[in-house]
Amino acid sequence: MSKRKNEKLIYKKSDLENELKESSTGFRTEVLRHKNLILFEGNSLNENLFDKEFIDLIVTSPPYNVGIEYKSNDDTLNYEQYLDFSHKWISNCFKWSKTQARFLLNIPLDKNKGGQKSVGADLTLIAQKAGWKYHSTIIWNEGNISRRTAWGSWLSAAAPFVIAPVELIIVLYKDEWKKTHGTKISDISKEEFMEWTNGVWTFNGESKKKIGHPAPFPRELPKRAIKLFSFVKDIVFDPFAGSGTTLIEAQINDRVGIGVELDKHYCNLAINRIIKETGTLEFNCEQYYPKRTANGIF
Ligand SMILES: C[S@@+](CC[C@H](N)C(=O)[O-])C[C@H]1O[C@@H](n2cnc3c(N)ncnc32)[C@H](O)[C@@H]1O
Repeated sequence: MSKRKNEKLIYKKSDLENELKESSTGFRTEVLRHKNLILFEGNSLNENLFDKEFIDLIVTSPPYNVGIEYKSNDDTLNYEQYLDFSHKWISNCFKWSKTQARFLLNIPLDKNKGGQKSVGADLTLIAQKAGWKYHSTIIWNEGNISRRTAWGSWLSAAAPFVIAPVELIIVLYKDEWKKTHGTKISDISKEEFMEWTNGVWTFNGESKKKIGHPAPFPRELPKRAIKLFSFVKDIVFDPFAGSGTTLIEAQINDRVGIGVELDKHYCNLAINRIIKETGTLEFNCEQYYPKRTANGIF
């Protein structure tokens, strides 16, 4: 880990507020500003949500369009509509990203409900059409999930079903892969770096019941993404914030977290969870971050 004494805060309060200034047409509502986090209730399909390039790293899991019962989002689009939806928000994120931004996109490998589809391959192509450059793919081996729903033709080659109990995390970037901007401070340990640069990640999925959201990802996913692919104090964005998992890990790992969530109910869930997991006090703030109050992010 690089030394704290070299740390420089790169965003001034006024800069970030400018970058995220409320658009005149009121497309979004700030529902939480807590420590280094902001959560907006809003729609990531709306290209006017932000009018500046502010993102260093996107970590997100969009709706998978597999009939999950979200409160506000229709998860039963036909496949063409789903690809249009994907192109729209992925293009918006491109527009809001800085030149060295990275984009970690957690999506299914494929889909077999309502006809087999190569979701991973199709969204990778769509992201590239939106301008993102491809870097690599991480396979998330979700230990505790069984995706098996049917065998197809049991013990027969007539029409067997094959299903891989994994998800993908596609790694993309905007213009340049090498990061030369930001604090240049990395906080990853040798063991973490060695383990996480192996592109098969094995950890359990999150319990929907425990979190109270129909499709949360586990904290381990944004934690690894943030520590491996961003510098301390970078701006981490989740356009589908859900229960706030990415924002929690952004705060805990000393990044700035910005999230957008469509549904008021999930916004409230995220607010409660974020406050519970990150604490309410700026404890010893002055002692550990002497410059923060004067030149700080918020
Ligand atoms: C797969 S979940 C994300 C879960 C999140 N990673 C977590 O750990 O809780 C997708 C979320 O996107 C939200 N959503 C769907 N459409 C949206 C849109 N157009 N703009 C913003 N949020 C949207 C849904 O309400 C849902 O909470």
